Amino acid sequence: MNGPAPAKAADTSAVDQRIAELLGRMTLAEKVGQMSQVNADFPDAPARLGDAIREGRIGSVINQVDPGVVNALQRIAVEESRLGIPLLVGRDVIHGFRTTMPIPLGQAASFNPEIVRQGARVAALEAAAAGVNWTFAPMIDIARDPRWGRIAESLGEDPCLASRLGVAMVEGFQGEDLAAQGAIAACAKHFAGYGACESGRDYATTNIPENELRNVHLAPFRAAVDAGVATLMTSFSDLNGVPGTANRFLLRQVLRAEWNFRGFVVSDWDSIRQLAVHGLTAGDADSAHEAATAGVDMDMAGGVYAAQLPGLVGEGRVGIDVIDAAVANILRIKFRLGLFDSPYVEGDRIPLVPVEERARIARQAALQSVVLLKNAAGVLPLARADVKSLAVVGPLADDPYEQLGTWIFDGDPGRSVTGLQGIRDLLGEDVKIRHVRAMETTRSRSTDGFDEAVDAARVSDAVIAFLGEESILSGEAHSRADIGLPGAQAELVGRLRETGKPVIAVIMAGRPLTLTDVIDDLDAVLFAWHPGTMGGAALADLLFGVESPSGKLPVTFPRAVGQVPIYYNRKNTGKPSTPESLVLIDDIPVRPGQTSIGNTAYHLDAGDRPLFPFGFGLSYASFEYAGLRLGTHELRIGDAMSVRVDVTNRGGMAADEVVQLYVRDLVGNVTRPVRELKGFRRIRLDPGQTGTVEFVLHSDELAFFGRDNTLIVEPGEFHLWVGGSSEADLRATFRLVEVSGG
Ligand code: GLC
Repeated sequence: MNGPAPAKAADTSAVDQRIAELLGRMTLAEKVGQMSQVNADFPDAPARLGDAIREGRIGSVINQVDPGVVNALQRIAVEESRLGIPLLVGRDVIHGFRTTMPIPLGQAASFNPEIVRQGARVAALEAAAAGVNWTFAPMIDIARDPRWGRIAESLGEDPCLASRLGVAMVEGFQGEDLAAQGAIAACAKHFAGYGACESGRDYATTNIPENELRNVHLAPFRAAVDAGVATLMTSFSDLNGVPGTANRFLLRQVLRAEWNFRGFVVSDWDSIRQLAVHGLTAGDADSAHEAATAGVDMDMAGGVYAAQLPGLVGEGRVGIDVIDAAVANILRIKFRLGLFDSPYVEGDRIPLVPVEERARIARQAALQSVVLLKNAAGVLPLARADVKSLAVVGPLADDPYEQLGTWIFDGDPGRSVTGLQGIRDLLGEDVKIRHVRAMETTRSRSTDGFDEAVDAARVSDAVIAFLGEESILSGEAHSRADIGLPGAQAELVGRLRETGKPVIAVIMAGRPLTLTDVIDDLDAVLFAWHPGTMGGAALADLLFGVESPSGKLPVTFPRAVGQVPIYYNRKNTGKPSTPESLVLIDDIPVRPGQTSIGNTAYHLDAGDRPLFPFGFGLSYASFEYAGLRLGTHELRIGDAMSVRVDVTNRGGMAADEVVQLYVRDLVGNVTRPVRELKGFRRIRLDPGQTGTVEFVLHSDELAFFGRDNTLIVEPGEFHLWVGGSSEADLRATFRLVEVSGG
């Protein structure tokens, strides 16, 4: 992995000169003001915050999205304060602004950086028109625990996928030129290791060995920094005893010394004050000292820096050099954003994408994010010629708000196309549609509405049940200990099964669910995550074969929550399970010998396999892989090699396939995962068409952090697979070799 691309020397020195000049004129109070972000989530913000902004005590506001109010605040800063330093205006624009894309976990299922980039671009343009110039996204925490509510806003369990899609979001938000109209600063969060919170309980302790931290959790952040992300946000969580918001190892050693990051770091909301709650400090003064000296440049909405830093500097506990460095980092992003030259929202100067185009992108993103988990007897796609009546059932069939998912402060449900609406729009009057909600919410335990649903099913050719979780059941602080379908949904599935009609489930959720108790009662399952504004239109296209599903799982689906954490890029252990060793609880004889059962890494009552593995997703087509060929079977360290494979669509309709490349390093200075994703490519093939996909695998991509936590590339033998999931079995081998005398 190379260091960040050096910015053009002229730009850097010119901006740094402007920063130095400005710093030289700033008072301590004005400097601390730049380090303070304040909540402006009220219409009279100019009146309430005007004096503080005028006196230079606020450098950024958060949660104001009325462009008129934003301009009023900005005008005070630019025209009425002593130095006229413009404000940063921050907002969580996580997966869309007014037009909502699928939740990030759903976007990750597209395995398509281009559609992710386009979605972020649409979001940036809409947000910029509202006055936002800084978003707190992408969230690139590696998430291997579906109990964790924030897995919904992550890009899944894999460092390669999260890195490439996180970079695509940064590029979509920031564009080629951060100073261009419609570009907004991105924020890679939460630094770092937040997704490893114990038991998936949000904000809980994380204990991650440095080797795992570097090889897994830091990879996407390094990629974002190398891609020029403007800011990072520290995590709430305690990492190995030191919360992210006070973690010098992360902020000084890794981010600055090793990665040469030149943007700025913002705390999470009030996370500086929370250092005392963690028990790291005795109170606000110590917390401000710890955070500032650790490298947190800006205090998000906590007020602790504003209250404590002047005194700490006066006492000599925090050096003015620390303050100046923090302010310089913040000013550098304000200059990169062009705010000193163009601070105001000028909606007509923002190159807005036409509403129809935004909807098209949202629909494409939804189409590519839905994962077909089951399709027994090819029940899908439903043939419009055969279906004359349809029962559309469930609490999520026609809810324009819930399908938007978590973190949609500004999403507009009025723009939503729900599943029911999408089906109606597609089928018109040709089909008799009976819509029965059946449950008040997905959590309802009442079965009172079931009879009506069953009656509708009995007189219909097929049943489409929209099930899952409302958006509130995932996202921040919304973790679940049981990740099955909430409420009485499984009972509803059973009742529908009894009708003998084909039962197709469309499941909307912000996380993997344990579907083990319903999967056998369903003929087909489309997992839609929370698919966003155009989710219903996309789902109708998929249900009736206008398009084939093509999403692939960015995260493992466990059989039982007790298997968690379970993920594909696991270590082999010294006693991996084998088909022979898997004696399951129902097969255990009476009083077997103490050592006759198990003796390998699995659960007696769940085995060792997930319900659905990472990278899995079915299609209405069928793809045959052949002719795997490597440019060489001896890859020299420092070189790259081609990996080619022929993919043929043996199905009856054109479809996309996500071709995936995995490797395994058989012997390492530390133990290495049994598989690691190193490449993926979405391709389109017509029936009968064969396409050749080529990857270029560079030896640098086989680097890892070894026992001493330095990055190394080791010679040795590798296995390589290419296919349509992490269980691909088309395999080749190669050796990585030293260059003699190199
Ligand atoms: C929240 C989240 C963070 C978000 C911030 C601002 O607590 O942890 O992801 O960006 O506060 O809303």
